[in-house]
Amino acid sequence: MTNSPKILGFVHGAVRGAVVLAAVLLVTGCRGNLSRKPPVHVNPNMDRQERLDPQERFAFFADGRAMRPHVPGTVARGFLREDTRFYSGREADGSFVDRAPVPVTRDLLERGRDRFTIFCSMCHGDAGDGQGIIMTGGYGFVPAPTYHSETLRAQPDGYLFDVLSHGVRTMPGYAQQVPVADRWAIVAYVRALQRSQWAAEGDVPPGVLSTMQTTGGPTP
Ligand code: HEC
Repeated sequence: MTNSPKILGFVHGAVRGAVVLAAVLLVTGCRGNLSRKPPVHVNPNMDRQERLDPQERFAFFADGRAMRPHVPGTVARGFLREDTRFYSGREADGSFVDRAPVPVTRDLLERGRDRFTIFCSMCHGDAGDGQGIIMTGGYGFVPAPTYHSETLRAQPDGYLFDVLSHGVRTMPGYAQQVPVADRWAIVAYVRALQRSQWAAEGDVPPGVLSTMQTTGGPTP
């Protein structure tokens, strides 16, 4: 065992040399070596897999598209929309529904007023007389008509629904901003506005009528 210190010394020296070499390589090794190859990936772990990106070409299918079109007639869950009167405001024969296909309740009218104030009143005015700020501000827009004309009062509910869904002439449609149920709420509120301007004496409750006649308005 006389030469064991020598061997140990040699091993120590070799290890030290290897460590220094590794350190030098680590610091300087990859500097300046640009590479277009993917980096070394020690454990792939299914990180990279074959896949097709949206809108990508793909020769496998006859139409050359990777994305597959829906099977004709596919309907997303919850979008069947069988109730054409509700969704289009039209009867099966294509004519406009006369009355909104939803029960007109106080809540619906409140909702309608809320939505009307957000989406319509700036043009059509709070009273539906076409005197909204956009129109009275002198910005040069095509005037919004009053809702209180004979023509618009005579239109069926389905027509109003259609106008506010798809627009009319220069007025844009609001189908993107206003969901169907809210559109019916707005229609109901427009009807209420129309009625408010054409109320007859018989529409006022008897007790209130006498107060109106003496004071010029209902008691709050
Ligand atoms: C940017 C202004 C603007 C907004 C907002 C607007 N309208 Fe109009 N609306 C118009 C104008 C302008 C016309 C007339 C279009 C024309 O004759 O070219 C019109 C016409 C109409 C008509 C009459 C259609 C006819 O047969 O003459 C109705 C009903 C109507 N709007 C309802 C609505 C409702 C309900 C909303 C809210 C969802 C709304 N509008 C929002 C500008 C607006």
